[in-house]
Amino acid sequence: MSDDKKRYPIGESESERRRQAERAASGPQAAAQTPEPARRGTEAPAEAGPEAAAMQMPAGAPAPEPPVAAGEEGAASALAELASAQAVLAPERLDADAARAELAPADAAPAMLAPAEAAPAPPAGGPLWLRFRLNGQRRELRVDPSRRLLAVIREDLGLTGTKRSCEIGRCGACMVLVDGEPMNSCLLSAYQCQEADIVTIEGLRDERAERVKSAFLEEGGFQCGYCTPGMVVSVTSMLAANPCPSRAETEEALAGNICRCTGYGSIFRAVCRASAGEPDANLI
Ligand code: FES
Ligand code: FES
Repeated sequence: MSDDKKRYPIGESESERRRQAERAASGPQAAAQTPEPARRGTEAPAEAGPEAAAMQMPAGAPAPEPPVAAGEEGAASALAELASAQAVLAPERLDADAARAELAPADAAPAMLAPAEAAPAPPAGGPLWLRFRLNGQRRELRVDPSRRLLAVIREDLGLTGTKRSCEIGRCGACMVLVDGEPMNSCLLSAYQCQEADIVTIEGLRDERAERVKSAFLEEGGFQCGYCTPGMVVSVTSMLAANPCPSRAETEEALAGNICRCTGYGSIFRAVCRASAGEPDANLI
């Protein structure tokens, strides 16, 4: 046999054809005696599977177990252990899920957003006629009941001295006086201001308010000035109730007003200057 044929054996159909030609040449008897070549699938009885092995075993002998590799056996027992462990843990997992589902509504509503939610629900129906006094003038406009007072003041009535910043009642930039009390206009809905007396920084022009504004200018109590209208509203309201506040009282009154760019020292000095009495020794 040539090297080529060793490397590339002739296909089965080709060799079959040659054998038939040889049989025809030597006659019908030779053809009958020539044994059929063994087929590839029957050459290896050991690979014939458990059925074939069982056929060779004596009658009554137990059928052999299908062969399992050592690695597969270990994996099967590990899976069985894992399944039983999961079955034990499952009830606890279910309890935890149920507890989480019960807690979910409380988690979804952070406490810091509570003020707006704690307010009474707006009246049902469409827009309402909002009637109130703004900086001494009677106003009447049709708005959605849940529209924020900050939006009414700035967008509907065009008074932009009241600033929009955090909108969650933390910074005090939107501070206005409602019936004489400083309030965050970002947290008030329109329906809550029905017949209220509202004063914004534009309407704060009495002698005390002018003194506060001058004090902020003289002491440099601002830098960008974004917080200043809210500061002036809060300080003016505080001085109306307490003309000579202490440092602690001033800190408490300004707790809802955040300045992001000025040192608070100049703001406290402005309050001290604006106060009607002598500057408090503890204030600076
Ligand atoms: S914008 Fe209202 S408190 Fe900040
Ligand atoms: S001066 Fe800029 S935030 Fe107060």
